[in-house]
Amino acid sequence: MEDERVVTNRELQEDTFEESIRPDSIDEYIGQKDVKENIKVFIDAAKMRNETLDHVLLYGPPGLGKTTLANIIANELGSNLKTASGPSIEKSGDLAAVLSTLEPGDVLFIDEIHRMPRYIEEILYPAMEDFTLDIIVGSDSSTRNIKIDLPPFTLVGATTRAGDLTSPLRDRFGIISKLQYYTIDELEQIVKRTSRVLDVPINDDAATELAKRSRGTPRIANRLFKRVRDFALVKGDGIIDLDIVKMALDRLKVDELGLDDTDYQLLKAIIERFNGGPVGIEAIASSIGEEVSTIEDVYEPYLLQIGLLKRTSRGRMATEKAYQHLKINRQERLF
Ligand SMILES: Nc1ncnc2c1ncn2[C@@H]1O[C@H](COP(=O)(O)OP(=O)(O)O)[C@@H](O)[C@H]1O
Ligand SMILES: [Mg+2]
Repeated sequence: MEDERVVTNRELQEDTFEESIRPDSIDEYIGQKDVKENIKVFIDAAKMRNETLDHVLLYGPPGLGKTTLANIIANELGSNLKTASGPSIEKSGDLAAVLSTLEPGDVLFIDEIHRMPRYIEEILYPAMEDFTLDIIVGSDSSTRNIKIDLPPFTLVGATTRAGDLTSPLRDRFGIISKLQYYTIDELEQIVKRTSRVLDVPINDDAATELAKRSRGTPRIANRLFKRVRDFALVKGDGIIDLDIVKMALDRLKVDELGLDDTDYQLLKAIIERFNGGPVGIEAIASSIGEEVSTIEDVYEPYLLQIGLLKRTSRGRMATEKAYQHLKINRQERLF
């Protein structure tokens, strides 16, 4: 199951400790250089003009730092952060209620904003554009529209899929930033920062190894750090060294590239059952018993990113690198 994978990028129960290691200023936020620089400029400009920051849309795979950045934006502006999430806004009244609590300059963070129903989304348009709330009051015989002024505020939306946002909503964001997978070097810095914050020492080579196996994702790096820390405590002297990392991650079945059993299953299915592809995503999904959307959102992005999987117009293909990594001889399989 996806929610049992130690390398899932989705938030797990055990990730509640994330709160304690979340950076809260922009200078502590590692990587994402372009996004950071842009946002810094916009924040400074907004402050100088004494205006609210333009609405910001953050998108990218889970665990890359969207929620963290939303918090940081509010901190840097010196504003309060109010939080809501797309799926929990079920009725237009839910959104109206959140909007009506806003105070001047507040940052409203809506996580998974693509999961908000369309008719609710429409309430956001005038709120974002003119800071007004248009609501209908009364019962069917005597309904009327009322307009309520809202204080100026900044909406920060986060989504894993910018493509799932309707264009009228997307167009109302002045700042749209895509978060990228982190480099090994950046993940190493994140691991070392976590080591300092939690006061659990880690050697340089151990930090590099952890970074390599973290799938470009800070959430995974921190989760693996936490697991490895337990091994260091029980099997070693509390200091995380390379041997401990290797032993712990081998036990957790996370390989040198951060792949686990599920990744192997997926790649093997393509190679062994579909001759390496191209094969349609639906066929892969039914062959490994997963949802298409889970494959698209969770498994596939990292495999594409590191070049083990390729997307073509006729479907997914395993690359030469995938054959090599799985130690499967392509020629033998073909003849
Ligand atoms: N740029 C970063 N620098 C340091 N730590 C980060 C960074 N981005 C994310 N993290 C860490 O990863 C965790 C997950 O990030 P989060 O913002 O919750 O991701 P998302 O909202 O995109 O799913 C955070 O708790 C934080 O500790
Ligand atoms: Mg988040």
